[in-house]
Amino acid sequence: MTANDTTSRDGRDERAARLLAGRIRYGGDYNPEQWPREVWREDVRLMVEAGVNLATVGVFSWAQLEPEEGRYDFDWLKEVLDLLGEAGIGVDLSTPTASPPPWLATRYPETLPVDAQGNRYHHGSRQHFCVHSPVYLRAALRIVEKLVEEVGGHEAIELWHVHNEYACHVPYCYCDETARAFRSWLEKRYGSLDALNDAWGTAFWSQRYASFAEVIPPRMTPTFANPGQELDFHRFSSDAFLDEMCAERAILRAARPDLAVTTNFMGAFKPLDYFTWARELDVVSTDNYQDPGDPDAPMRSALHYDLVRSLDKSAPWIVMEQSSSRVNWRAHNAAKLPGAMRAYSYQAVARGADGVLFFQWRASRAGAEKFHSAMVSHAGEASPVFAEVSGLGQELARLGSLYGARVEASVALLASWPNWWAMEALAKPANDLTMVDQVEWMYRPLYQRGVTVDVCRPDEPLGAYDVLLVPSLYLLTEAEGANVVAHVEAGGTAVISFWSGIVDERDQVYLGPYGGPIRALFGCDVLEVAPLPAGEGLRLDWADGTSSTAGFWLDVARATDGQVLASVADGPWAGRPAVVESRRGAGRVVYVATRLDDAGLARVYDRVPALAPEPGVTAAGPGVERVVRRSASASFEILVNHSGEQRTVPVAPGGLELTTDRATGDSLVLGPRGVAVVRRDASR
Ligand code: GAL
Repeated sequence: MTANDTTSRDGRDERAARLLAGRIRYGGDYNPEQWPREVWREDVRLMVEAGVNLATVGVFSWAQLEPEEGRYDFDWLKEVLDLLGEAGIGVDLSTPTASPPPWLATRYPETLPVDAQGNRYHHGSRQHFCVHSPVYLRAALRIVEKLVEEVGGHEAIELWHVHNEYACHVPYCYCDETARAFRSWLEKRYGSLDALNDAWGTAFWSQRYASFAEVIPPRMTPTFANPGQELDFHRFSSDAFLDEMCAERAILRAARPDLAVTTNFMGAFKPLDYFTWARELDVVSTDNYQDPGDPDAPMRSALHYDLVRSLDKSAPWIVMEQSSSRVNWRAHNAAKLPGAMRAYSYQAVARGADGVLFFQWRASRAGAEKFHSAMVSHAGEASPVFAEVSGLGQELARLGSLYGARVEASVALLASWPNWWAMEALAKPANDLTMVDQVEWMYRPLYQRGVTVDVCRPDEPLGAYDVLLVPSLYLLTEAEGANVVAHVEAGGTAVISFWSGIVDERDQVYLGPYGGPIRALFGCDVLEVAPLPAGEGLRLDWADGTSSTAGFWLDVARATDGQVLASVADGPWAGRPAVVESRRGAGRVVYVATRLDDAGLARVYDRVPALAPEPGVTAAGPGVERVVRRSASASFEILVNHSGEQRTVPVAPGGLELTTDRATGDSLVLGPRGVAVVRRDASR
């Protein structure tokens, strides 16, 4: 298989630059197959008006392209590509493999996925395939080959879009084909049955396997399945989708080695290890649908983009999908307030995006997504949404010089998918401890302070960062732990939360006081862990005489050589260390043994210069975010006001605000949901 094929990166920069250099890409999913031909011309006219320069075509078009097995119809697609090409609109051409046509499911029901209870899914929606089914794979690769053969040479195509949101809806299949594929994946990983039994700890509950043939996916069991089996099933499933993506990519690349390839991610999507996936793409792309009714939406959206930007630090990225206003798949679908779509689009650009696209161009008349907002609503051009969409398209056309300007971050938040899978497997001290909660707990105050954060794999080079944040890295390999230790010893700072360094890559506990390969950093011995009863908090006394609260969890620790900054004030755990600071080599570690409240966490962050609040953001007041992108020739200070009030942000004078083309003084006034992009040439 082609996954992890490093040659796939050859020529990547050139392919990406061909797509992105000199202009922000703007557009959306375009589904002309849902409309009569007359509408296509109108679409193109409106796209030009709206500044659209990239349209994603063909995502769900398999049944139109291959109405019966082996009978093809590409004429309509050629016409659409001609129309878009003549208007100068680039095409992001998608392979249609995310929604097989009814004939595939009807003729080959074995291509349909099966859930853990043994129920087979049916066709009539989308994503109804088992990625391990050889019949599905053959049919999928055949339609991709045909697509390339029929239209692959078309000049309008500027980007390949493989599939759509891999693993969305059906991330796991438990059928017999899957079982076969899982066994051979395990044989390759472990080499022998003894190694597998050892890794999974099958001496427990009489689970020892006498042959690989006895191994099955973690189907429905009376109680907890084996955690090692579950962890490997996550790895295996992510790898299998990736192999399928790479197989499609190989066909596309062979035909058009000049074109960039992407597939659309979904931010922090648990089933797929996007750190591994991103390396296989020329351009990373993501779909971001925050709930506009969620007061934390700006922070969550920022975190989404910081993650996506960080997946492969050498790859550019774009927003492939966002909504112009409402979605239709939550219980109550709050609309984006006027200006919010623009503000969120600038947030993406601020955090590094070189393209902003939507789902979808024109709102459907029929089907399950007809009440999802679009760039062109049911009311057509008259809708205020279209005015916003076209205003933004015109404006983004002025930001072409941003390409290649990198987001500056000196803080790395460490995360890994294997950790996510393992820490949220059941049968833990606190099954309500989630990876996202822990990450947001550490990230939120930094977002509010205007501190920009990259997300890093624990094993990647970390030398560029001053500070590491370690939010409950429960699963930490020896190599990852050594990387963290080396960073600190070389002069870095690490803020490490409870429940870190607990198990190795097999989900087996490091014995002794907790912490495994990073235990020596803690400055205390973690002897027990004590989740707190729901709603019960702790009062902490700080060495400087102040106090704060904490909750959820307490490591029952004994200080060793660290300096105790805060300890439990009273109750059964009185005197236990809660925050411990230690010097290690040239660096420093703050170990946080409980979930500190905002004030407590602020006290920790205040000790670390790189985590200090950005003065402009603090002065502006709540809701304003600021990110700096820098290239060799210029810096770009991007400000977004998510609040409904006017905010004044102090800025260094001498810049040019690009959306208005005005020179800036020493402050900028941002209206409600207003934005600013201030360019300063490097010589200034
Ligand atoms: C995405 C998907 C699109 C559309 C959209 C609706 O997950 O890729 O096809 O369904 O959601 O929000």
